[in-house]
Amino acid sequence: PPEVAAISGFPKSLLVDSSGSPILASKIPVNSPIITIYEYPLTGEPNFLLNLGDSSGKPVKLSPATVVVPQTGDKYTWPGGVGPYGSIVSYSAICQHLGCQPPYIHFYPPNHVNSAQESAPEPDTLTPQAVAAAQSNHVPAIFHCDCHGSTYDPYHGAAVLTGPTVRPLPATILEWDSSTDYLYAVGSIGVGVYPTGSNGVPSKDPKSDLGSSFGSSVGTKTVVKETEN
Ligand code: FES
Repeated sequence: PPEVAAISGFPKSLLVDSSGSPILASKIPVNSPIITIYEYPLTGEPNFLLNLGDSSGKPVKLSPATVVVPQTGDKYTWPGGVGPYGSIVSYSAICQHLGCQPPYIHFYPPNHVNSAQESAPEPDTLTPQAVAAAQSNHVPAIFHCDCHGSTYDPYHGAAVLTGPTVRPLPATILEWDSSTDYLYAVGSIGVGVYPTGSNGVPSKDPKSDLGSSFGSSVGTKTVVKETEN
């Protein structure tokens, strides 16, 4: 199958926090997801920004990985992590099944995957299949979508662990400037396959796709701004 091309031509964007200050790569807490709003792939869409660690909280250097799109069999190369430890990654926070967004899709950090079912408040439930997928793939943390239970592997390009999604989460390609510690979003990969909910487009509102009663809160937001270069 052909490789899925990364989208180019997006502006290089500096990642800043909600007060407009640049996010410093070395200050991102290990294993704590930040929900960011990027211009990737479309204006205002949420992304996860993560400094991934192991179960002891040590940053994990993430190597490039081949990601398969189960729906088509297409493959693409995810470039791996950036930052001082090569552990910082970013992905779209729009579930590729029917488009659920945070807080319905979220990151379960190491040491929480196994206990999440017991400790999590409603409607935060981790399916037994999700726990089994994390264990069998030897990943200490996962993305899980509460809407229908899809799971993704944060350590390997947000590849699909369990359905019903048949598409990985698109990855935002990051650059790290070691002299300033700043992070830049420079492109997306894995995009071009969007969730086809009832209205055929990525949904901002899970209710319209799923017909259930959901709340409307979102996680911590940050924003990005364009740079001169
Ligand atoms: Fe995420 Fe269905 S929208 S599993």
